[in-house]
Amino acid sequence: MDKKEELDKLKREAIEADLPLKSGATQMVFGDGNIGSSLFFLGEAPGFFEDQKGIPFVGRAGKLLNETLEGIGIRRLEIWISNIIYYRPPENRDPSPEEIEAFKIFVDRQIEIIDPKIIVTLGRFSMAKFGSGMKISQVHGKPRWILFNQKKRVLIPMYHPAAALRSTNLLNAFKSDFDNIPKVITKIENMVLESKKGNSEQITLF
Ligand code: URA
Repeated sequence: MDKKEELDKLKREAIEADLPLKSGATQMVFGDGNIGSSLFFLGEAPGFFEDQKGIPFVGRAGKLLNETLEGIGIRRLEIWISNIIYYRPPENRDPSPEEIEAFKIFVDRQIEIIDPKIIVTLGRFSMAKFGSGMKISQVHGKPRWILFNQKKRVLIPMYHPAAALRSTNLLNAFKSDFDNIPKVITKIENMVLESKKGNSEQITLF
């Protein structure tokens, strides 16, 4: 099976699964973008517009995200984007730990299939997936190594764009954290080149 077939199969399985929040939602919001991307953006849960369209980040937060990406020369269609919850919670409330746990198997498999080099989390709920004890106010914008599905990848925790829309301070931090992404991508590309030359031990981490 190629990537697209695997992803379609996973989506069918998720649609058929008895997942929380399903009965109150219009449809599942599974993921969107370039399946070959090395950048995986992971948000929280669909809101009103995402629930209507079946596509993640198409509302106000999505508009800010797209504009901020364009500001660093990345088009939205170049990345893969999804959430840790695939159905809209009522009144956009925070997802519960039980709900996050119920979707985990699908979220993990989606990441495994896309197999990104860089995972950008949007907000504290998706960040918490990769380790407890991180405080978003302290770690936002700072890349770190993680091991996911037995592979080293870079995690970049970001503020959620919806939070950035509520506070000028967070908006400034959100934008300047994004300014770092091209540097991280270049560093990863250089590492891949160096490791092909057999010099991987000499590369310093972030
Ligand atoms: N907020 C999210 O976390 N995800 C979306 O898809 C939309 C808004």
